[in-house]
Amino acid sequence: AHDMQDDLAQVLITEEEISRRLDEMAAQIDADHEGQQLLLVGVLKGAVYVMADLSRRLRSSIQMDWMAVSSYGSGTKSSGVVRILKDLDADLTGRHVLIVEDIIDSGLTLSWLLGNLSSRGAASVEIATLLRKPEALKVEVDVAYVGFDIPTEFVVGYGLDYAEQYRNLPFIGLLKPEVYEN
Ligand code: PRP
Ligand code: MN
Ligand code: MG
Repeated sequence: AHDMQDDLAQVLITEEEISRRLDEMAAQIDADHEGQQLLLVGVLKGAVYVMADLSRRLRSSIQMDWMAVSSYGSGTKSSGVVRILKDLDADLTGRHVLIVEDIIDSGLTLSWLLGNLSSRGAASVEIATLLRKPEALKVEVDVAYVGFDIPTEFVVGYGLDYAEQYRNLPFIGLLKPEVYEN
């Protein structure tokens, strides 16, 4: 396997910056949900690092579940029609749900997910995302917790992939243009 560093143009958000922001987000989530039994719902696969690092910073005992979704059909993911590849194990009736995501890009995935999970009788459904691209949003999504707003550029690392690679970079980075051309 080749060295990922060779493919990087720039580090956008360092490991330390992510870590410090997650500390703040976790403290806020704890404060906002005192006395509640929270269910964190991670969206596979991008959210695995955020879920692991955010959840272990919480002081409250939480429960954790996972969903895998994909945009309908095979082409681009801007239809807004989403297919469930792996559904939750948990029954959401009366639950306080916090969806955990790595990034909100067009917002279509989360907008659909918010509607889907809300329709299952949850007491509340909120969103925590590490990254958001405000200028790429195609739908309004009400997000309770945002780590960083970033420019509309293709980012990888900390769960985010290009062609299923680079998820395991410990920071958020930009790839060299030639990586996409190969
Ligand atoms: C990425 C990302 C978000 C979604 C955001 O997931 O992890 O889940 O796209 O895009 P949107 O706001 O435009 O809907 P992807 O579908 O690539 O799957 P992955 O998490 O397995 O990489
Ligand atoms: Mn994802
Ligand atoms: Mg992806």
